[in-house]
Amino acid sequence: MAKPITQFICSACGATHKKWSGRCEACGEWNCIAEEAPLSAGPGKAALGAAKGRRIGLSDLRTQETPPPRRTSGMAEFDRVLGGGLVPASATLVGGDPGIGKSTLLLQAAASFARAGAKVIYVSGEEATAQVRMRAQRLGLADSAVMLAAETNLRDILTTLEAEAPDLAIIDSIQTMWLDTVEAAPGSVSQVRASAHELTTFAKRRGVSVMLVGHVTKEGQIAGPRVVEHMVDTVLYFEGERGHQFRILRSVKNRFGPADEIGVFEMTGAGLAEVANPSALFLSDRDAPAPGAVVFAGMEGTRPVLVEIQALVAPSTLSQPRRAVVGWDGGRLSMILAVLEARAGISFAGLDVYLNIAGGLRISEPAADLAVAAALLSAREDTALPRDGVVFGELSLSGALRPVSQAENRLKEAAKLGFSTAIAPAGCKFGAASGVTVQEMADLPKFVGEVFGAG
Ligand code: TYD
Ligand code: MG
Repeated sequence: MAKPITQFICSACGATHKKWSGRCEACGEWNCIAEEAPLSAGPGKAALGAAKGRRIGLSDLRTQETPPPRRTSGMAEFDRVLGGGLVPASATLVGGDPGIGKSTLLLQAAASFARAGAKVIYVSGEEATAQVRMRAQRLGLADSAVMLAAETNLRDILTTLEAEAPDLAIIDSIQTMWLDTVEAAPGSVSQVRASAHELTTFAKRRGVSVMLVGHVTKEGQIAGPRVVEHMVDTVLYFEGERGHQFRILRSVKNRFGPADEIGVFEMTGAGLAEVANPSALFLSDRDAPAPGAVVFAGMEGTRPVLVEIQALVAPSTLSQPRRAVVGWDGGRLSMILAVLEARAGISFAGLDVYLNIAGGLRISEPAADLAVAAALLSAREDTALPRDGVVFGELSLSGALRPVSQAENRLKEAAKLGFSTAIAPAGCKFGAASGVTVQEMADLPKFVGEVFGAG
């Protein structure tokens, strides 16, 4: 038998290393590498030999199989992020920072699925059943038909799930589960991986939908949810800024639906409330037109969302002026500043630049480039843009504006919220008249000239 070799595994991203080091080269995280025995030493060196394996059955793509229907919970935001409901026999990972509201969300979802007629088991490895019940009371779900258990031994949990055959099993959290076949502490990369593997194979074999909660961790001893992302069908992250009551459920991987879909919730005293119209929420406290504030007509998955982008530009006392960003990519801000300087002759040297996406939303769309540039210019020139206008467009390094997708949906959302003008790249598919007058721009110099005068 091959001798098991110890290896060093990054608890943040799961990369394996030959030796220990302070920083993981794969993900750049510090202090996250720990020594662990591998799951198995792998097959021995010997060739497969003459002993044959079992012949597996093959089928073709034409075979008609009606897929089992998706299960909807009735929580519209939750169902949409799943791609239109829960797929039977699927494994879903719900990741997020500790305390962000994962247990609250899943308990509410469990109750909704139960109300819709599904048999739901909620296994908590972190809280006692009495604590879960107390939370349910607070959420007004005390009379829900969800079955509870507090357990961390996966062998017992799987035996129970097999006997009960529920439609949905929720495991809160994967980091507390342990398998007696793996010699490692609960929360270690090997335990988390092995537990997730057992649960996902169980889901496929028995046709049970399984949802796993995973805490995003900072310390090295506990494995993060990223180490099991590749095993599950759907990966959702529950995010939000501390201090904001908004929580966003985002799908980053979905084998059965679109990724990048978001659901917006608000944390209230009685649990999470769905926010059906997030644009209204993200724009809620706008009053007089302010320099540096620009409304961006963005898309989050299939849904248009309007958000305010705020910039502040102030003389700097530092030799290297400050560039601070909240909710957007810092590298992309540097790029926009460089394009403004090189293509429009507008320099931010000697100026501190602060950029903030209002409401605690994180934007990753390149279509926000033009809105960011507009906010920066508006702050620098101390000129407010018209209050009734939205901006979108991707900026290329040459200073040209590139058309973006779904322009029509962006305009429709803007019209719905009472905006009447838009600045957008030329060549977008704007579609039928939506009641918004579009000012089409070919490049950045034209935009600067038309909106801010000669600059
Ligand atoms: P929780 O679901 O326990 O977080 P996680 O499982 O992600 O660790 O949520 C914890 C936070 O949510 C806690 O700080 C309090 C807040 N909360 C409310 O504001 N209202 C509520 O009704 C509930 C149940 C929790
Ligand atoms: Mg929890």
